[in-house]
Amino acid sequence: MATGIHVEIDRARIKELTEREAAKLDARTQGSREFYARAQQSLVGGVASSYQVRDPWPIYLSHGKGAQVWDIDGNQYLDFHNGFGSMVQGHAHDAISKAVTERIGLGSHFAAPTEDAVVVAEELARRWGLPKWRYVNSGSEATMDAIRIARGATGRDTIVKIFGSYHGHHDYVMVSIGVDYAMIGDRFDLQSLSYGLGIPQAVVEMTVAVPFNDAEAMERRIERLFEEGRPPACVIMEPAMMNLGVVLPEPGYLEAVREITRKHGVMLIFDEVKTGLCIAAGGAVERFGVTPDLVTLAKALGGGLPSGAIGGTAEAFEVVESGGVVQVGTYNGNPLSMAAARANLLEVMTPDAYAHLDSLNEHLLAGCQMVIEKYSFPGYSVGVGSKGCVTFSPEKITDYASFKANQDAELCELAWLYNMNRGIFMTPGREEEWTLSITHSFEDCNRFVAAFEELASDLTS
Ligand SMILES: Cc1ncc(COP(=O)(O)O)c(C=O)c1O
Repeated sequence: MATGIHVEIDRARIKELTEREAAKLDARTQGSREFYARAQQSLVGGVASSYQVRDPWPIYLSHGKGAQVWDIDGNQYLDFHNGFGSMVQGHAHDAISKAVTERIGLGSHFAAPTEDAVVVAEELARRWGLPKWRYVNSGSEATMDAIRIARGATGRDTIVKIFGSYHGHHDYVMVSIGVDYAMIGDRFDLQSLSYGLGIPQAVVEMTVAVPFNDAEAMERRIERLFEEGRPPACVIMEPAMMNLGVVLPEPGYLEAVREITRKHGVMLIFDEVKTGLCIAAGGAVERFGVTPDLVTLAKALGGGLPSGAIGGTAEAFEVVESGGVVQVGTYNGNPLSMAAARANLLEVMTPDAYAHLDSLNEHLLAGCQMVIEKYSFPGYSVGVGSKGCVTFSPEKITDYASFKANQDAELCELAWLYNMNRGIFMTPGREEEWTLSITHSFEDCNRFVAAFEELASDLTS
């Protein structure tokens, strides 16, 4: 959405409101503060994943039902975080709870295939139009194995990714993300930079990044990699970026990427860990109409149980069928996860569920956009399916460079505090977006808009 004339937000006012709202949240979450003191003795940072770290303390949750979650202080929130988009079904959905409860009484793990694994693969094949599937336990495992399949199939080592995209926590893809803008380099020759310590430099150098929404830059870089004698095995990318808020592909971009990769014999992997099941029944492949060689799923697939999947063409999976690439894992296709995924796909995420998500999101995006226009707020609302955000930027964000140059981190932090203090549990961090669940109502969306309007009013009055 285009951005018009906007007011300048007073930085001192942001600071003042941030202090006020942080103090309010601190006062409401004293139970979390006390629990954190205990947790950090044994759990590093008091949390299970560094993405859950929060200063001054994390907010510990106790339970969730439908669109709501509760923290250990008893505060009730409407959940727009939804486990980084895993819980598009809403919490403790009856059909998924029933499937898991029935399954656990029949044995929860065999490391042998079960009927549910086949039914889930059949349904995924139908939705994505990709005939072959394998399972893993997380998004990271899905992207790691998909890259290995591409490397095995092509006999090449180098991989191409989008600068600033997150594809999980394994070495191949912890590159050129979350780094200082000043370091990223020229658009046509972006740097390969390690995301955190512990990643071998040799691995970092095998991963080459290109900007999103720029097919020309991608093709030029791929051609150079051929000239340098290190042709790429694959391009791995999110078809819509979901970690710079939401950045949609410009018209024609995905089609151009498909053409370029095909022309150069490079496998195309769509990482649909976030988009899959959340933006349409058949994910981005259905939504945008471009089919890659391989697709990766996780998060929403298991309806809250750890799971992941890789789908692909018969040609792409030939290297696995033949035993060339060893795609394995003790918990792959775990019966509990498969029972949950089966119920999720066949009973919960139905055509009606997607129609509901689309109309909810349209309502929420329009409500936020109205607030933006009413207060001449510097930003715009953007989203697709169950996903969306207000991007706090006067310019449209199309890639990592425009994100780093424009997106307002302090404003994002303040918006998060406003939400939390008004009963809206939202994904922290300026990179994140909301995920609606099918249990959200229009009234729930109105509450989100009301909290945003309070923020816009307080900042512009
Ligand atoms: C696009 C994408 N790919 C992969 C992953 C990794 O998934 P997981 O955290 O399940 O390993 C994520 C996680 O946020 C993601 O957003």
